[in-house]
Amino acid sequence: MKLLEGKRAVITGGSRGLGRALCARYAREGADVAFLYSSDEQGAAATTQDITGHGRRALAFKTSVLDEDGLDALAARLEKEWGGADVLVNNAGISQPLPIALMEGSDWDTVMDVNVKGAFLATRAVARGMVRRKKGVILNIGSLAGERAIESPVHYAASKAALRGFTEALCKEFSRHGIRVNCLAPGLLDEGVGKNLPDHRLEEYVKHVPLGRIGTVEEVAAFAAFLVSDKNAYMNGETILMDGGL
Ligand SMILES: NC(=O)c1ccc[n+]([C@@H]2O[C@H](COP(=O)([O-])OP(=O)(O)OC[C@H]3O[C@@H](n4cnc5c(N)ncnc54)[C@H](OP(=O)(O)O)[C@@H]3O)[C@@H](O)[C@H]2O)c1
Repeated sequence: MKLLEGKRAVITGGSRGLGRALCARYAREGADVAFLYSSDEQGAAATTQDITGHGRRALAFKTSVLDEDGLDALAARLEKEWGGADVLVNNAGISQPLPIALMEGSDWDTVMDVNVKGAFLATRAVARGMVRRKKGVILNIGSLAGERAIESPVHYAASKAALRGFTEALCKEFSRHGIRVNCLAPGLLDEGVGKNLPDHRLEEYVKHVPLGRIGTVEEVAAFAAFLVSDKNAYMNGETILMDGGL
């Protein structure tokens, strides 16, 4: 029996990086996977292939996590075609390598909107069906930047710290509906937003990681599959760090 056999998962930001690794891993573990992306068509096609390559249903849905109508349309389609969703992963996230002195108010809003409001809107849309069915699992993707004093853009760190509060409050509200909510906070990974880091900063970072390397998106995706599985039925409201020991 695979870890996610028969589950229907929704993953935001699935067109590359950690999101694509999550889609592939969840499909490998037996889940049908719907994913959102906002622009990267080629990446979305590659993710679709990864999912169907594991013999599972794939649904690539082009809509921003800030588009309320788009999210409602996705939720309606899932209810109609798949009978709903069992798992939601709020993975879509962005960062900008900006020092605070050069950060415009609009930069702050852009990062907070996608990383925090996007998680709220996607959750509201997808969780309505979970509440009706009294069953579901939500995993938010946080970051080490929101948990520890490492150097990172302040809007990004603030947005990821907000996801911890979002996770805890949502857990309290949703537990009575049979929905578990957790947050997985990785350190720097080999793909995605971490690539913005200049080489000298990367070397400095790795020096402080007890395991002596950055993580891989596959490692995070494998653990994220366990986190949303029925084998992890008693973990709720947690933010779990996965950072090589920092
Ligand atoms: N990589 C790391 O080192 C690292 C470490 C800790 C935490 N994380 C977290 O992991 C998550 C994934 O990051 P990543 O590194 O994989 O980033 P990435 O490679 O830049 O991918 C981001 C994904 O989010 C999608 N996206 C961006 N804005 C969106 C929007 N408004 N609506 C819908 N989708 C949107 C992108 O698709 P489109 O371009 O098609 O919109 C893409 O699929 C983020 O929450 C990030 O903070 C990453």
